[in-house]
Amino acid sequence: MKKIVVLTGAGISAESGLSTFRDEDGLWEQHPVERVATHEAWERDPVYVNDFYNMLRGKLLAAKPNDGHRLVADLEKKYQVTVVTQNVDNLHEMAGSTHVIHLHGELMKVCSSRDVDNPHFIKTLTPDNLEVAPGEKAGDGSLLRPYIVFFGEAVPNIEKAAAEVMEADIMIIIGTSLAVYPAAGLMRFAKPGTPIYLIDPRPTVSAKQNLHVIAKGASEGMRELSAML
Ligand code: OAD
Repeated sequence: MKKIVVLTGAGISAESGLSTFRDEDGLWEQHPVERVATHEAWERDPVYVNDFYNMLRGKLLAAKPNDGHRLVADLEKKYQVTVVTQNVDNLHEMAGSTHVIHLHGELMKVCSSRDVDNPHFIKTLTPDNLEVAPGEKAGDGSLLRPYIVFFGEAVPNIEKAAAEVMEADIMIIIGTSLAVYPAAGLMRFAKPGTPIYLIDPRPTVSAKQNLHVIAKGASEGMRELSAML
């Protein structure tokens, strides 16, 4: 079975009603990144940061996967598929994708602020218990924090993701401005000549050699690509 790696960004969830970050009216326009998504912001004002992620969880709860997510999940019928997502929502999983690597953390999880990746202290929130109260503690007594990779922090899953890209026969990139590293550099790990398809209505890179651009929304673009593959 051929292997496909799909790298996704906020654009694939835009059609589910979740805001992207850098488009007009994007999240960072309404909530400056330095107040809600940097390591310093968390250190300075954990209550404010915690509130922001509580708010995002409420929005996620109201969202459902769209055809873009579903068509990515459908690829598993014919290919070995790994989804590498920058998104912190769980819409790929809800659509049925079985192998998802989250590069920037997961909104529905919280963790220790002293030992972020220690699995003992990672807790999954449930729809009826979405909100983290200010001051709530993790199992090790430190403040419970969102399981989100803040700017200024390492991206622990990047090596795993790069290893997957190195083995890919086909790479698909959907709905990302490719502005944030190291995620944006992942396509460089593809073997020379590997076909790469980028689906984005406002692509930030142009087509060349093995890089094909489908300048459409996620659902429409995936419909077109699925028919082509
Ligand atoms: P951006 O907001 O930077 O980019 C969103 C991309 O989605 C843009 O290229 C849009 O053109 C595209 N887009 C908009 N509507 C679309 C649609 N219907 N279908 C397909 N694409 C569409 O979001 P990301 O690239 O995901 O990190 O941002 C990367 C990271 O920056 C995020 O993971 C987040 C942010 O800071 C953290 O929170 C750590």
